[in-house]
Amino acid sequence: MLTDKDLTERGLKATLVQHPLVQHKLTLMRQSEQSSSAFRALLREISWLLCFEVTRDLPLEMRDIETPVEPMSAPVLKGRKLAFISILRAGNGMLDGMLDVIPSARVGHVGLYRDPDTLEAVEYYYKVPGDIGERLIVCVDPMLATANSAIAAVQRLKNGGAKDMRFVCLISAPEGIKAFNEAHPDVPVVTAAVDSHLNDHGYIVPGLGDAGDRIFGTK
Ligand code: PRP
Ligand code: URA
Repeated sequence: MLTDKDLTERGLKATLVQHPLVQHKLTLMRQSEQSSSAFRALLREISWLLCFEVTRDLPLEMRDIETPVEPMSAPVLKGRKLAFISILRAGNGMLDGMLDVIPSARVGHVGLYRDPDTLEAVEYYYKVPGDIGERLIVCVDPMLATANSAIAAVQRLKNGGAKDMRFVCLISAPEGIKAFNEAHPDVPVVTAAVDSHLNDHGYIVPGLGDAGDRIFGTK
């Protein structure tokens, strides 16, 4: 796994979430003997922590409130509108955790699958809130491999009016971060791990296999 120093040396831009709980849970997820239900639960829990990271700079304002002891001025979110966009289908495994933390967020879905031969992203579904141009958009997908899917999804959202976007994933490949940085330099990437490389089939090594299959028990 790459460190922050490795990313800097290679000119890759991504925020690496190194919280011990994230790293511990990710190690459990990688293990091939993990059941789908355990895998889903772990992904949901890690998504809580990734959600805290990706919303770290949300603006606050002060509000006058009454505690049982005395009045005080206390911080509340400044009402920034937000939407989570799940890249189907594996993105839904992260979406649940994100919505646990911010239940009022709007949700959009971009359906993409990777053509197994060309590794190009093929779109089959697109439904997002009508006002994405006014919202902070947080795209979620556990895997950033070649980045073809993430690049296509973000471009589709930009074409639909999105201006302020972030991309959150669980595991990424250096090749994917490089391609994504080049295609969308304005979209920050948050990831829990950057693995070694991609194999000949475009899978992340060591990675965790096919995220969608592991979440939904398909194969
Ligand atoms: C996986 C994953 C990403 C994509 C990453 O989806 O969830 O969307 O592959 O690969 P890339 O960076 O090379 O594009 P997949 O195409 O397997 O579809 P699924 O979510 O429906 O399983
Ligand atoms: N998609 C996955 O689910 N896993 C990978 O390693 C690459 C793409």
